[in-house]
Amino acid sequence: MSPEVVAHRGASTRRPEHTLAAYELALRQGADGLECDVRLTKDGHLVCLHDRTIDRTSTGSGAVSAMTLDELRRHDFGSWHGGEPAEVLTLDALLGLAADHGTRLFIETKHPVRYGSRVERTLADQLKRYRLDVVMMSFSVFAVHRFKKLRPEVPTVLLYDRLWPQTRPRFVDYAGPGVHLLRRHPDRGHGVYTWTADDPADIALCRERGVRFLATNNPDETRAHLADNLTPDQP
Ligand code: G3P
Ligand code: CA
Repeated sequence: MSPEVVAHRGASTRRPEHTLAAYELALRQGADGLECDVRLTKDGHLVCLHDRTIDRTSTGSGAVSAMTLDELRRHDFGSWHGGEPAEVLTLDALLGLAADHGTRLFIETKHPVRYGSRVERTLADQLKRYRLDVVMMSFSVFAVHRFKKLRPEVPTVLLYDRLWPQTRPRFVDYAGPGVHLLRRHPDRGHGVYTWTADDPADIALCRERGVRFLATNNPDETRAHLADNLTPDQP
């Protein structure tokens, strides 16, 4: 089985990350799933942003947690990348897009953050409004644990960066090693979620080792590399 291609922050090489344009392009490119990071605004909205502040990816500055959604909406999140101007993307809008396309959404909660466990509580509540294939992820084992207690039916990924333990807690459905860890432990690749594989050698490694979900910034190139690696007895 070829890995499912997950668009990391959307098609984020070609479009500004975490914008509607990035996710729409990923869907046109045939991504099987979409990945996003979420953070809570001061007034309790989950928005799709990676960094603690908006300095890198917008025309504004300051911490996401110190701004309301209306304040975030005053800034442009597209032109830093050379793209069209873009509004901050709410998780609600992305859930709507994923639901319209029947596409699996991988949602990563960032920690440590000012609002702590409120992030997972808000996410668990918000997901009740959607009938959608969702996977919750975090580098924080505590975040994954508390989310699983709230929504046991939603699959979870525990992300690993520096070390990849041999075993995972029972509330973790998939291990989520960075591709640098997969290179170090290729024998453990079967059925895992791996991030972020853009290099053809890494994509080939994911396929050979039976990775289940492959997060990439370039869904179209990754799909092409996976197709190139097909052999006649590997449909
Ligand atoms: O998909 C997991 C990966 O996104 C984790 O790293 O820093 O890109 O959120 P980061
Ligand atoms: Ca992420």
